[in-house]
Amino acid sequence: MHATKSLTRAMLAMTPAILLAVFPGTTAAGAAPPLPLLHIDASQVTGQVSPLHYGLMTEEINYSYEGGLYGELLRNRTFKAVTNEAKYWRATGPATIALDPATPLNEALNVSLQLIVPATADNAPAGLANDGYWGIPIRPQTSYHASFYAKAAPGFAGPLTVALASADGRTTFAHAEVSGLTGDWKKFDVTLTTKNVPPSKDNQFTITTTAPGTIWFQQVSLFPPTFAGRANGSRPDLMQLMADLQPKFLRFPGGNYLEGDYFNERFDWKKTVGPLEQRPGHRSPWKYWSTDGFGLPEFLGWCEDLHMEPVLAVFAGYALKKDYLTAGPALEPYVQEALEEIEYVTGDAATTKWGAQRAKDGHPAPFRLRYVEIGNEDWFDRSGSYDGRFAQFYDAIKAKYPQLQLIATAKVKSRVADLLDEHYYRSQEEMELHALDYDKYSRTNHTKIFCGEWATRVGSPTPNMAGALGDAAWMTGMERNSDLVVMQCYAPLFVNVSDLREGGSMQWKTDLIGYDALNSFGSPAYYAQKMFSASRGDQILATSSRDIPQQTWQPPARKRNGVLQPLPPPQQLQKLFFSATRDHQSGKIFLKIVNSLGTPQPVEIELTGVQSVADAGQATVLQASRLDDTNSLQDPAKIVPLTAPIQNLDKNFRCTFPAYSITVLEITAK
Ligand code: AHR
Repeated sequence: MHATKSLTRAMLAMTPAILLAVFPGTTAAGAAPPLPLLHIDASQVTGQVSPLHYGLMTEEINYSYEGGLYGELLRNRTFKAVTNEAKYWRATGPATIALDPATPLNEALNVSLQLIVPATADNAPAGLANDGYWGIPIRPQTSYHASFYAKAAPGFAGPLTVALASADGRTTFAHAEVSGLTGDWKKFDVTLTTKNVPPSKDNQFTITTTAPGTIWFQQVSLFPPTFAGRANGSRPDLMQLMADLQPKFLRFPGGNYLEGDYFNERFDWKKTVGPLEQRPGHRSPWKYWSTDGFGLPEFLGWCEDLHMEPVLAVFAGYALKKDYLTAGPALEPYVQEALEEIEYVTGDAATTKWGAQRAKDGHPAPFRLRYVEIGNEDWFDRSGSYDGRFAQFYDAIKAKYPQLQLIATAKVKSRVADLLDEHYYRSQEEMELHALDYDKYSRTNHTKIFCGEWATRVGSPTPNMAGALGDAAWMTGMERNSDLVVMQCYAPLFVNVSDLREGGSMQWKTDLIGYDALNSFGSPAYYAQKMFSASRGDQILATSSRDIPQQTWQPPARKRNGVLQPLPPPQQLQKLFFSATRDHQSGKIFLKIVNSLGTPQPVEIELTGVQSVADAGQATVLQASRLDDTNSLQDPAKIVPLTAPIQNLDKNFRCTFPAYSITVLEITAK
């Protein structure tokens, strides 16, 4: 379910006062301490808002794709998740099931599931069952596409019954019969259509028979309708949540998922293209199996569906368990692999090998690619090999694709990277402490920044209001400095919240969007980002301030080599953050203000460099009464932005921002 709260007529009438108190003019002089003052000089454009704010980033973590975005509903469809059992599959009735490495479908899917149905099955159907990723979503009047490869030992007369049923087996929502199994592998497809049933997720998928025999299965798959009807596509509710963020690019495939724990567990892109049954799958460094049904073509399809630019990260010869190759001939195959990957994305379908493969995979037209990232977080590589590895990739890619912008993931000296990828995972206070950092970066000679992973890691599984406030403070800094921070994306994007125990569906706490098999929700941080993205503007306006409220913060003591260090000195934290941009075509000014205090904050706002300001404007406010307030599956719309008209705007006005709030003011000025 996608959480939204729309304003009713009655709410609209009352919200201006409740949302935001706006008064004309400046404060009366008196003994009271001066109010904070924000000054926007609309005659001074300090830079252009980068068109690449905001992007998306996630990877195969927290069941983001399998059990998440990827439409596939059956868990371990290729039986390769573990080698000693058909994990997540059950025998039903008197049947037995086992992995059979001696009966592979092909080299990629080199094992199958063997089902033995005894003669006693003629009284009670026997077969196999799968419970999906913590459930199988059943919706009313919905058609599901089930498919599988199967073959049978001589003597099996069939047929098979494919069904969607409740977990207790009492209700069958839809079923279909399949016959014609032979001694050779054959693919079967059926459509299962539900009637007018209530939505539910505690369900199972079964294939049963009453005919005795031995049957082998491979790639047993179940797809619901997907976003834009794309074959092998994505979950519509999650796609819509992302579309509502108006993302400009997608950084993929990772993250750690690009690197893998070991070289042979990297994102080996060639094994993620072509027909699904030719993709062997691999283990994600987040400790679960990926079928790679969501592979390179699917990442590109995702970009296309959401009108995003691909930002392609290529494996750069360093794996998470610290294995690496130094620059030189041994690294060369990986450089070639990257060049071929770029060719897959951009190459001509008629004249290049990998462009032709892309066409075979259903996309003859090349994709537009401008950014390629070399590796991921190579600052972890303490061997110092990154400089040389980067140079080798840089030279080869620039020689063949001089138009590409290359992103380094750690500082390099041997070449001038076009962008540097910085990652920040911080507490709310740390985000606030660093929210002004980019204001201080030199503009002469500084490499442009791609803030490729950032998040205020407060709240689990998804960020709470404290997380949203930290994020918003940080976003004001990135927006104000987007001439330098030209690209940025929050990470990670997704978490399946079905089982939050160790070893369950979450490997990383604090993820923007949560879901189970049936429903989904955006966190307060999701809505903060949506507000910023929807009011980007294209010109950064000069701002200055005075008397901004501060608070003293004691940073926690840190451990070094397992030993707790003395407390660091206390820090003064700013508690009010802001940035101003303008859409040069409409003249609309977007003023974003973050009040991290637990009390309402009146602020004087002064606009210069304009002739006049329209009395009426608009305010969008995200607010909570507690820092740990949050959204969840049970209460998906607890904290969502409210938009309402406001009045009394002028060149000078006073506005009181609610406690713990993020506000976007839209001001029309000439
Ligand atoms: O976003 C989660 C992880 O954080 C990424 O995989 C990695 O790049 C970073 O350390």
